[in-house]
Amino acid sequence: MTSQATIGIIGGSGLYKMDALTDIEEVRVNTPFGEPSDALIVGTLEGTRVAFLARHGRNHTLMPSELPFRANIYAMKQLGVQYLISASAVGSLRESAKPLDMVVPDQFIDRTKNRISTFFGEGIVAHIAFGDPICHALAKVVADAATSLNLPDVTLHRGGTYVCMEGPAFSTKAESNLYRSWGATIIGMTNLPEAKLAREAEIAYATLALVTDYDCWHPDHDSVTVEMVIGNLQKNAKNAQAVIRAAVRSLATQPPASEAHDALKYAVITPLDKAP
Ligand code: ADE
Repeated sequence: MTSQATIGIIGGSGLYKMDALTDIEEVRVNTPFGEPSDALIVGTLEGTRVAFLARHGRNHTLMPSELPFRANIYAMKQLGVQYLISASAVGSLRESAKPLDMVVPDQFIDRTKNRISTFFGEGIVAHIAFGDPICHALAKVVADAATSLNLPDVTLHRGGTYVCMEGPAFSTKAESNLYRSWGATIIGMTNLPEAKLAREAEIAYATLALVTDYDCWHPDHDSVTVEMVIGNLQKNAKNAQAVIRAAVRSLATQPPASEAHDALKYAVITPLDKAP
């Protein structure tokens, strides 16, 4: 494979392409875990080669439970990605995080039921450390990039807990209020398996969460609907692209050290000479 990129971008609902990419190559990567969600688009952004992947496919044909998470992360690793920024639509569980705001979370709660989120097994046992599931250094680059832009009507929230639910239906009010009682900040359907697999692949991972709605807990807002989510996606996608460009500029000039880059150092338990 000749295409290479050290920075990867996964675009969620609403972000199906990066407008500013030039010198584009469409790369179809074959992995032991099947095909990624779509071809990876390798192109130049701010003078640096980056790899972009539309998480749900460019025509939004894959549900969260159907996503080939392992193939997506494996493909990024094959291209040489070391920093992975995930731009993702989320619902807000806090009054303070209003629609169109951005959150760079630092924790997850797993409410998925049907996801394979490890590359290990079948004879090789490994337990990665995941107490800090987001790379702090990359999260800081993303949050600083967002702050530096001073986007109108957008507040950037540093830190917070992302509840990852299975979907595809949105939460009930009882669930939404339960997550609030746990202190969670935002809710989405995709980022936790990605973060785990990226850590196993020793790729630094950070989420740029784009708030589309107040989920269903908020007494002054209607229950979340697709209409409501889509209404805010376009503005969010434009803002996300500006933040990602600024983050890529920073990463290209000053790539930070990340603990994720040696996450497997003490993780594999199976002795190498006993592995199948
Ligand atoms: N994605 C966008 N809004 C969401 C919500 N309220 N719940 C889960 N995923 C979402």
